[in-house]
Amino acid sequence: MSQLDFLDRYYRKVAWLYDLTRAYYLLGRDEALKEIASHAAQGDRIVEVGAGTGRNLIYLRRFLGSKDAELFAIEPCAPMQRQLLRKTEALGASVQLIPKMGEQWSQSDLGGPADIIFFSYSLSMFSDPAGAIAHARKQLRPGGLIYIIDFGKLERVPEPCRKGFRWWLRTFHVDPWRLWKDIMPLFQASELRSSRGDYFRRAILQKSYF
Ligand SMILES: C[S@@+](CC[C@H](N)C(=O)[O-])C[C@H]1O[C@@H](n2cnc3c(N)ncnc32)[C@H](O)[C@@H]1O
Repeated sequence: MSQLDFLDRYYRKVAWLYDLTRAYYLLGRDEALKEIASHAAQGDRIVEVGAGTGRNLIYLRRFLGSKDAELFAIEPCAPMQRQLLRKTEALGASVQLIPKMGEQWSQSDLGGPADIIFFSYSLSMFSDPAGAIAHARKQLRPGGLIYIIDFGKLERVPEPCRKGFRWWLRTFHVDPWRLWKDIMPLFQASELRSSRGDYFRRAILQKSYF
């Protein structure tokens, strides 16, 4: 089964109650969005890759306040796209959906290079996270930022809980252990912080430094 078939099949039944349930375990997203908003400048192109229901872009629009920005949602999964279009309708043309895989979109879909690209709890589902970051980097302007928030490796949590959690995430095709192993070499000159016993991590990559 292709990754897209898996996503369509998996989210078909749960997309409608996704935001309600994920509020309890996709932690740290609002702090991350506030941080992204603080880095944004007037007129920026900001892209979320794996945007899901559009929940993050709605909050980001709020946190941007008076800063004008073009927001783009890269989301390949049809049930999520339907939720996203419904939920972001009130924001009009300031949010645009690009119905493509994270490895297949390009800056020409945006009308020019991106200023900020972020991945929120999506990269740990990608089959080639390092490839997706390298691809995103090519779509950034010089000095632009890639921002990542995702599950950590629970390094400060007792072993039985860690194992159980890892097993549970794998049933959703989510693997933060593989994610951080693959992309760790990128962080030599960049910022990486872990929170809540390494439950989640936030990372910022600036194009000039990786
Ligand atoms: C756990 S959800 C996170 C949604 C949203 N970013 C959030 O923070 O609520 C992961 C999202 O990534 C998308 N996704 C998974 N693999 C992808 C890929 N290769 N390219 C683009 N999106 C992908 C899924 O369709 C899903 O919407």
